[in-house]
Amino acid sequence: MTRLNQTIEAIKSEALAALDQAGDPEAVKALSVKYLGRKGLVTLFLRNITALPPEERPAAGKAANIIKQELEASFQAAEKRLSTPGDQQESGIDVTLPGRPAPVGTLHPLTRINRRICDIFNRMGFNIAEGPEVENDYHNFEALNIPKNHPARDMQDTFYVSDNIVLRTHTSPIQVRIMEKHAPPIRVVAPGKVYRCDSDLTHTPMFHQVEGLLVDTNVSFGDLKGILTAFVQEVFDVKTSLRFRPSFFPFTEPSAEVDILCVMCRGKGCKVCSHTGWLEVMGCGMVHPAVFENVGYDTSKYNGFAFGMGVERIAMLHYGINDIRLFFEGDVRFLGQF
Ligand code: PHE
Repeated sequence: MTRLNQTIEAIKSEALAALDQAGDPEAVKALSVKYLGRKGLVTLFLRNITALPPEERPAAGKAANIIKQELEASFQAAEKRLSTPGDQQESGIDVTLPGRPAPVGTLHPLTRINRRICDIFNRMGFNIAEGPEVENDYHNFEALNIPKNHPARDMQDTFYVSDNIVLRTHTSPIQVRIMEKHAPPIRVVAPGKVYRCDSDLTHTPMFHQVEGLLVDTNVSFGDLKGILTAFVQEVFDVKTSLRFRPSFFPFTEPSAEVDILCVMCRGKGCKVCSHTGWLEVMGCGMVHPAVFENVGYDTSKYNGFAFGMGVERIAMLHYGINDIRLFFEGDVRFLGQF
């Protein structure tokens, strides 16, 4: 190595040692000027190469240029490092990079339909009520005019917790609890889980209902028809025909079941509607005077109507789902579609 090469090596070591001590971008800039500026040490060295004997020039020039580039890179890196806030220096994290998207869940279809149903009734002036899922025999049956050993108990396969305690088989006990606590006028919908010992393609041991209750003076069956017709038109996006078919519930008189024109075949008859052209969506009727008596309402003054619908059933018809079990399997490929 020539004497001159040793000089430029010394300049390089000196520059790097000084750079190590630099504490801020300004100090780095000053060093850059000192070594690489117009009158910088490296620049002057390069300029003086012409003073060397011709045979030494190429090697000296090459060495000096390499060192010049190395220093430029070191200064640049140091400047960048020192202008980055302290908490980001060590980790090497680039906070300007876009983040990784976090997977976002969707509302369960039953939650969506439940909210949709309650929302429609809310807008018609109904409040929301709730009641216990573990219910006593009195509220689930007795107060609803279903005495012990009454054949109507066979309509629902009951899960018994003990002799007098059941998992509620419907949301109708909430009617009783509301009337026990409040005087008329009453206008509530009560959503909730209900339980029946039943399991197949269209039945699960737990499912959801929304109960409705309106009590006032001069309430007629016509009011019931009007409210439910408005509701059915609203809950299914498409215009739907509906019919009220006479039926029986111990806690309503007269009672009816509401059918809608089959949403799949539009009344022509298909598998979904068992070729009847109609689908049953809820039960309803005028509150039975015996129920009013059980809660101490004056039956000569007040009357009202009640209705109850299955949320799964409405959701299946609304979304065109044919297996009720899909709602409870938690498969994200299914759930992500809503
Ligand atoms: N509770 C009844 C059922 O589960 C539905 C219903 C509610 C019928 C209110 C009439 C009035 O089948």
